Amino acid sequence: MRLLLPQARPLTEQDLLDLYGADETPVLRAGFVVTTDGGVAVDGGSRGLQTAADLAAFSTLRSVSDAVVVGAGTARAEDYGPVRPRASAAAWRRDHGRSERPPLVLVSRSLALDPAARCFAGPAVVVTCAASDPGRRAALAEVAQVVVAGDDDVDLPLAVHRLREQGLQRLLCEGGPSLLTALLTAGLVDELCLTSTPLLLGSAPTLLTRALSRPLPLRLEHLVDGGDGVLLGRWAVRRGGDDGTAAD
Ligand SMILES: NC(=O)c1ccc[n+]([C@@H]2O[C@H](COP(=O)([O-])OP(=O)(O)OC[C@H]3O[C@@H](n4cnc5c(N)ncnc54)[C@H](OP(=O)(O)O)[C@@H]3O)[C@@H](O)[C@H]2O)c1
Repeated sequence: MRLLLPQARPLTEQDLLDLYGADETPVLRAGFVVTTDGGVAVDGGSRGLQTAADLAAFSTLRSVSDAVVVGAGTARAEDYGPVRPRASAAAWRRDHGRSERPPLVLVSRSLALDPAARCFAGPAVVVTCAASDPGRRAALAEVAQVVVAGDDDVDLPLAVHRLREQGLQRLLCEGGPSLLTALLTAGLVDELCLTSTPLLLGSAPTLLTRALSRPLPLRLEHLVDGGDGVLLGRWAVRRGGDDGTAAD
């Protein structure tokens, strides 16, 4: 792999950890692999879009995070398992004050989640709202910490606040498009880490599920040549004041 911007240099696996893990401030970052025309799934999942370089970035993003957040739709579609950082990242996590394993945070209104599913085989948090079924909440409380944020719907700002209160400062959202769109709409996303994979699909789903109320400008923080055809871009969401334009 090779860093192309802001300055060109080769990258080792450890360099990748430093590149993605340097930011010590609380951050909510979204990580996706996207085709050239914005598609995020083929045959119902993202595996067909991934390459070795994307998997390295995917693993690095997990390795530097305090928690991995997914919508229940992605957990169901992709049969999510617990988060297990690569052994090569263990020392980095220790040296940088991260827990051994980031918990998996599942966001669900319906709580249509099987307590016996693979995702509950490790540390897990389920974020839901008060309107969810109390029986399902009780069953999931046997296998995960259940956080209730909001009444009829999940209150995402409150949910993020609750996670941060537990020391989960660096949140990695791995999708899917519904959750990403809701997080962006709520103004909660700081960064997008997008693998651009050289494919055209011409079909749904795409990165966002609906139009934002207005265009959201991004700033390219770095660009990596994966060496296998993909480009890995890290984009900061430009908020009012940090880009010289008028505040929102
Ligand atoms: N290419 C990639 O990087 C990538 C990444 C992730 C996913 N994907 C693909 O995207 C597809 C899934 O898309 P999706 O949009 O259905 O995924 P999603 O956002 O993970 O799942 C939607 C579900 O998550 C819960 N959810 C999401 N936002 C919520 C909110 N604001 N409040 C409460 N609950 C919320 C709800 O669960 P309940 O129904 O349980 O209430 C909702 O039905 C799959 O094909 C997957 O493979 C691709």
